[in-house]
Amino acid sequence: MADTLTITDNRTGKKYEIPIQDNSIRAMDLRQIKVNPDDFGMLSYDPAFMNTAACRSRITFIDGDRGILMYRGYPIEQLAEHSDYLETAYLLLFGELPTSAQMDQWTQQITRHTMLHENIKKFLEGFRYDAHPMGMFLSAVGALSTFHPDARNIFDPASRQLQTIRLIAKVPSIAAYIFRHTIGRPYVLPDNELSFAGNFLNMLFRMTEPRYKSHPVLERALDVLFILHADHEQNCSTSAMRGIGSSHVDPYSAMAGAAAALYGPLHGGANEAVLRMLTEIGSVQNIPGFIKRVKGGEGRLMGFGHRVYKSYDPRAKIIKRTADEVFEVTGRNPLLDIALELERIALEDEYFVTRRLYPNVDFYSGLIYQAMGFPVTMFPVLFAIPRTAGWIAQWEEMLLDPEQKIARPKQIYIGQKRRDYIPPEKRRP
Ligand code: ACO
Repeated sequence: MADTLTITDNRTGKKYEIPIQDNSIRAMDLRQIKVNPDDFGMLSYDPAFMNTAACRSRITFIDGDRGILMYRGYPIEQLAEHSDYLETAYLLLFGELPTSAQMDQWTQQITRHTMLHENIKKFLEGFRYDAHPMGMFLSAVGALSTFHPDARNIFDPASRQLQTIRLIAKVPSIAAYIFRHTIGRPYVLPDNELSFAGNFLNMLFRMTEPRYKSHPVLERALDVLFILHADHEQNCSTSAMRGIGSSHVDPYSAMAGAAAALYGPLHGGANEAVLRMLTEIGSVQNIPGFIKRVKGGEGRLMGFGHRVYKSYDPRAKIIKRTADEVFEVTGRNPLLDIALELERIALEDEYFVTRRLYPNVDFYSGLIYQAMGFPVTMFPVLFAIPRTAGWIAQWEEMLLDPEQKIARPKQIYIGQKRRDYIPPEKRRP
């Protein structure tokens, strides 16, 4: 017998057998539950999608209770150890690790598309010197749709493939131009002989030297951070990507929206918020007072807690190791002592323990970025670069899923009942 859920409606005494598949029921099956035949039917109410799956996906698996994260079945720890970002992006997008020949072709395709149209430069020059990099980033990504109008052919696989390559290849160039704009230095052209992370560092930091050579430890650290941030299933920005993409807009416009979602301090802006918090705390002595205020409801311990991880975020463990390697090269970030002490206290404190609040990916990533020379405002942009792979993979999966339609949640209306318009002179305050 197929698994079913039996629901008894006490209003009518009727019983309903709802099929269970993958340990879930279809919300549409609830619609048959009615008191009167002309009722709309039962809705499920789930603000913030706490317990609602909006898709079936083959891309990323998370078990938040056990601290497991896998891309296409490969544990994140193995990818962080053995893979690089471009290979991981290929895996996310195409479902399998590439053969050597596929990897060569993929690398060549990406490096061929790293250049930006000259007008993008002019467009970026229009921003004020103190514009937030993420505001510039999401505008530039949205603007790409005007440079590549062919991107609107979203059901043409060749066009999708081309936009995918363009997006993965161009986001580091956009990010680097934004950084150079902020610090008032000339833009640096991509060097396609370098690795993905190596070239990014070149575009960021090259001065007058004929060829930029990054420190191998820093280049690898950046690549590992890119692997860790490449996808995270149905988070806020990915849901935005899918939701906007469900209107069949081009991927650049959808990704501008996803980047806007990532900008928020509860999501990709968290690493920036962590650094601001650590700077504000200022010294280890101030930590007990700060923790007391957080427990009293005055603000949050940024970089702690996660909607899905109710144990240690597996990415945070890898990042902590990477941080040690980076600090060997750059010198210790003085804020690290505050971070370590905060973590120690929070992992013992009853408030955080009972709420299962552990460090998330952003708790240490900001310290690494700062040690590498990035201003805090660049942090969400550094998150958006690798997340591009995840956003596109999820967008394409949504487009090709025959069950998906334009995303349109329901609401429960709690406003005024019908009433008649009152002319201004007859209105009472
Ligand atoms: N500091 C203090 N208390 C917290 C924190 C925190 N960082 N996070 C959650 N709590 C408390 C809440 O106040 C709440 O307590 P209550 O039950 O007494 O009201 C309880 O823990 C549950 O919190 P929710 O907000 O319901 O948890 P939710 O799953 O909605 O939030 C979120 C997850 C947004 C990540 C939250 O933990 C948070 O704001 N963290 C800080 C911001 C952050 O680090 N974001 C990065 C997320 S990772 C990423 O996007 C890549």
